[in-house]
Amino acid sequence: MIIPVILAGGTGTRLWPLSRKAYPKQFTELVGEESLFQATAQRLSGPEFEAPTILTNSDFRFIAAEQLDDIGVAPGSIMIEPTGRNTAPAILAAALAHEDTPDAVLLVAPSDHVVVNQHAFLAAIKAGEKSASEGKLVTFGIRPVRAETGYGYLGLAKPLEGFTPEPVELRSFIEKPQIDVAETMLASGRHLWNSGIFMFRVDAIIDAFEKLSPALLMPCRAAVAMAKEDLCFTRLGPDAWARCEDISIDYAVMEAAESLTVIPLDCGWSDLGSWKSVMTDSPSDRDGNVLSANTTALNCSDTQLRSVDTNIELVGIGLEGITAIATRDAVLVARTEDSEQVKEALQALKEKE
Ligand code: GDD
Ligand code: MG
Repeated sequence: MIIPVILAGGTGTRLWPLSRKAYPKQFTELVGEESLFQATAQRLSGPEFEAPTILTNSDFRFIAAEQLDDIGVAPGSIMIEPTGRNTAPAILAAALAHEDTPDAVLLVAPSDHVVVNQHAFLAAIKAGEKSASEGKLVTFGIRPVRAETGYGYLGLAKPLEGFTPEPVELRSFIEKPQIDVAETMLASGRHLWNSGIFMFRVDAIIDAFEKLSPALLMPCRAAVAMAKEDLCFTRLGPDAWARCEDISIDYAVMEAAESLTVIPLDCGWSDLGSWKSVMTDSPSDRDGNVLSANTTALNCSDTQLRSVDTNIELVGIGLEGITAIATRDAVLVARTEDSEQVKEALQALKEKE
């Protein structure tokens, strides 16, 4: 049996102003009728899975519980991080909470992804389970289509012959490279994108932390040991948690790990990380415009107009390659190409406060 561990504690700042500190993108209905978090929980609720362990921030606990209830998924537990410490402490806490079943296989799933083909996804998970039960740390690799600097890259010994869900040994793991490095890796044909989905046995990931990020182990173990039940939540011990380093699993473990295995994953995956990628994944009209309700585009091409959660009418005239997002209290207007820079704009906003 596989235990899903769903990560739902990120703030998704690059999708501002839709994604907010109080209501981040994984809980919004960005594409389709369910939130990305609900779609993730649904995807991992078939007969091959145990009840999921959810990890999220204290601020999002009620949203997470309510959204699970709405789709009829009963969680194994909802673990609350007193403060955001990124994905490494969260994943280690989930593993330590399952330490009494060392050979159980955990499937770590981000909650900000779209997966189109469930059948292909499950085939890859099945292959991953086999490698993970042999003690490997398993990642899932996506065929790269651009020199993206917001992803991790998986270096293979040689180019893949086919793209089937069978395990391949990894030579290197490079998290979020500079653009020139990303371009070289894309051109090499020997790299895949890291999907951010991982599988491993409980004991294998704890061992990897022990070797590669030993300083995390003691405070994280203490935070799990001092966890308190609070309504339907398990709240990690705040003092010990505050001593955990703020670091992602990619830097804390994966970049330096040995015995990494990758399963090629061809399931219509995408990470809705920026407005540009949301646009790529949304249906467009014949001029390439992506338009939500309450918007009108006149002589526009390749333009994204969204009026979100509001009755504001948004009108674009003569625009090309522009993204405009209107919410009740904030409006973003940017070249779609530059939409990654929302993060920097938010920093500038913060400094003004
Ligand atoms: N519980 C919890 N706590 N979840 C978190 C936290 C946290 O402190 N921080 C982030 N998350 C969740 C996010 O909500 C998301 O679902 C997932 O963990 C991944 O975090 P991101 O912040 O979105 O990571 P990323 O997209 O920049 O990079 C990762 O994913 C890429 C693919 O989407 C890396 O694994 C890359 O290597 C990978 O290519
Ligand atoms: Mg992400």
